[in-house]
Amino acid sequence: MALEVKQIPVGPMSNLVYLAVDTTTRDAVVVDSGWETGPIEKAVAESGARVQYIVATHGHFDHVSTMEELAGKVGGKLVAHESSGARYDLKVRDGDLLEVGRAALRIIHTPGHTEDSICVYGGREVFTGDTLFVGTIGRFDRERAGAMYSSLHDVIFRLPPETVLYPGHDYGEVRSRTLREERESNPYLGARDVGEFTSAFA
Ligand SMILES: [Fe+2]
Repeated sequence: MALEVKQIPVGPMSNLVYLAVDTTTRDAVVVDSGWETGPIEKAVAESGARVQYIVATHGHFDHVSTMEELAGKVGGKLVAHESSGARYDLKVRDGDLLEVGRAALRIIHTPGHTEDSICVYGGREVFTGDTLFVGTIGRFDRERAGAMYSSLHDVIFRLPPETVLYPGHDYGEVRSRTLREERESNPYLGARDVGEFTSAFA
């Protein structure tokens, strides 16, 4: 299975949303929708994609404010973590699989930035929302520091190091890179344990 990933910049806060298309069937998933549907609709049309799901990585407005509008235009079921307050079509939990053509995308619950934060893992790529960016990590409240530390170190960085990181914002020197490259260069990943992490960043 192979996914063709299109990275789409939207809005004034450097958001990155994604269209991932199964190269054989053209079934597709959209990850976040952000500020405007136009660039996503264009990408869907250009790639001949059939959108099956539109997934919210978390409930912050800059990621989800146009999701219903987008579903009305390109189709697809709206998906969010079960702890999300939004009334979407499908609530998911850690380990759930979304079938998109021949691909099975795995939902990974990564609380920390928010309780409803999820990452979407496609086997070769991971869409990380506001949990992990190129060169930095998402903001979190002090009481969520343990969850954030665990989501980064016990979950995301247990994925294969050659996995390509696709973040929810364009905050880095490049727009994506592998988890191996990220681990070697992201200054926020150096803490030895949750105590050090908390005192350094929370
Ligand atoms: Fe956020």
